[in-house]
Amino acid sequence: MKRSIINDLLKNPPIGNHVCVKGWVRTRRGGKQVAFVALNDGSTVHSIQAVIDLSKFDPEYLKGITTGACVRIEGLLVESQGQGQSAEIQASEIEIYGKADAADYPLQKKGHSLEFLREIAHLRPRTNTFGAIFRLRHHLAFAIHEYFNKKGFYYFHTPVITGSDCEGAGQMFNVSILDQENPPRNANGQTDFTQDFFGCRTYLTVSGQLEGELGAMALGGIYTFGPTFRAENSNTPRHLAEFWMVEPEIAFYDINDNMDLAEEFLKYVISYALQHGRDDIEFLAGMYDGELINRLNFVLDNNFIRLSYTDGVEILANSGRKFEFPVYWGADLQSEHERYLVEEHFACPVIMTGYPKEIKSFYMKQNEDGKTVRGMDVLFPKIGEIIGGSERETDYDKLLKRINELNMSLDSLWWYLDTRRFGTAPHAGFGLGFERLMLFITGMTNIRDVIPFPRTPNNASF
Ligand code: 4AD
Ligand code: MG
Repeated sequence: MKRSIINDLLKNPPIGNHVCVKGWVRTRRGGKQVAFVALNDGSTVHSIQAVIDLSKFDPEYLKGITTGACVRIEGLLVESQGQGQSAEIQASEIEIYGKADAADYPLQKKGHSLEFLREIAHLRPRTNTFGAIFRLRHHLAFAIHEYFNKKGFYYFHTPVITGSDCEGAGQMFNVSILDQENPPRNANGQTDFTQDFFGCRTYLTVSGQLEGELGAMALGGIYTFGPTFRAENSNTPRHLAEFWMVEPEIAFYDINDNMDLAEEFLKYVISYALQHGRDDIEFLAGMYDGELINRLNFVLDNNFIRLSYTDGVEILANSGRKFEFPVYWGADLQSEHERYLVEEHFACPVIMTGYPKEIKSFYMKQNEDGKTVRGMDVLFPKIGEIIGGSERETDYDKLLKRINELNMSLDSLWWYLDTRRFGTAPHAGFGLGFERLMLFITGMTNIRDVIPFPRTPNNASF
């Protein structure tokens, strides 16, 4: 018999029909005559209840129906007697696909800590919490494609392996097939990368932006959406070594168009999640964060504050607040500063612009003042920086000067400079940290809990 999806059955129950469901047992309870089995197939945070009349089945076989086991249950769908359930199944046929021995299966009880669940990343998707999180991850990814597709931007695939360092922060993972213990050496005694797989030094990309710009200079508006890698040893609740970034890049956009796009985009995907992942968001709000839905609605209902770095520093300096890191013009703002502005001073998302050029990347458009660049960061409550972007420097000479000042290698950037030689155009773009957005939408507080298999320092086993 054809399998029904549990989400469909609960939303629109065909009462009186014979149905077949397949899934994993969440709980089994009951007494001598009947057993109540809560079955979940991953399609929704809600489980369907199957009522088993014990006299109708082989008691030995039924012993295999324990928490975690995978089963097929067929039977009549009837209106549920229990609260909060629309329908339940009166089991007439049961098949056990896979047992889960109660002595070994780690997910016996409810309410395991998130820390414990991180240690069993291979099983945690089977909990209600992680089911909800990973369904939301899917909805958000879909919303991102839908938004850009509607805007007429093209999904442009940028490489994961690259020879250039986009952010210039030197936090890249090497990609090499050379014998690490005994690499070939050149005349100067240095590792000879001409003998490596690509004939040059290569890394895992920190951002698809530079190649994305090439796409924008041909297709007009593009976006990338893929994994990016940073070897920064920051063991914080907001950093991953492997994370997903969404990077639109648009010809003829200036910094103001870029800010408008970032705000509209974030509101679109948040609203999509509220619409299509409502059950899951409500579940997470109930379990972890009573303010979650209010916070999401607040972002939808309010205009983001637009603030210059200079004004931001002044507000922070006059706040009377003692920060761990000092605030002065030129300082790179820390998460404590960003969160003070967003959560306390304005109590609203903030887009900050006009940063000192020293603390931002080489490609940002330089302002007339010679000191600041047209960079922008979108700062969110509970998260801090969720988006970083800028209008790009289009002037060949200014860009080259900056690359030289920063001692960056021209060998790996000549093609990027070529865009400024041939039909250069004003353009802008930004990068959204997909897992930071996930933190905001789910109310989770540790970035390790919003990606199925987190990669962090000392953690890549599975
Ligand atoms: O601000 P970032 O470094 O900007 C760029 O990489 C630009 N090339 C983007 C562009 O203009 N196309 O990174 C962008 C965003 C940050 O705002 C943050 O949300 C996220 O990526 N991010 C991280 N997320 C998780 N773990 C990390 N280690 C992250 N580093 C950055
Ligand atoms: Mg940034």
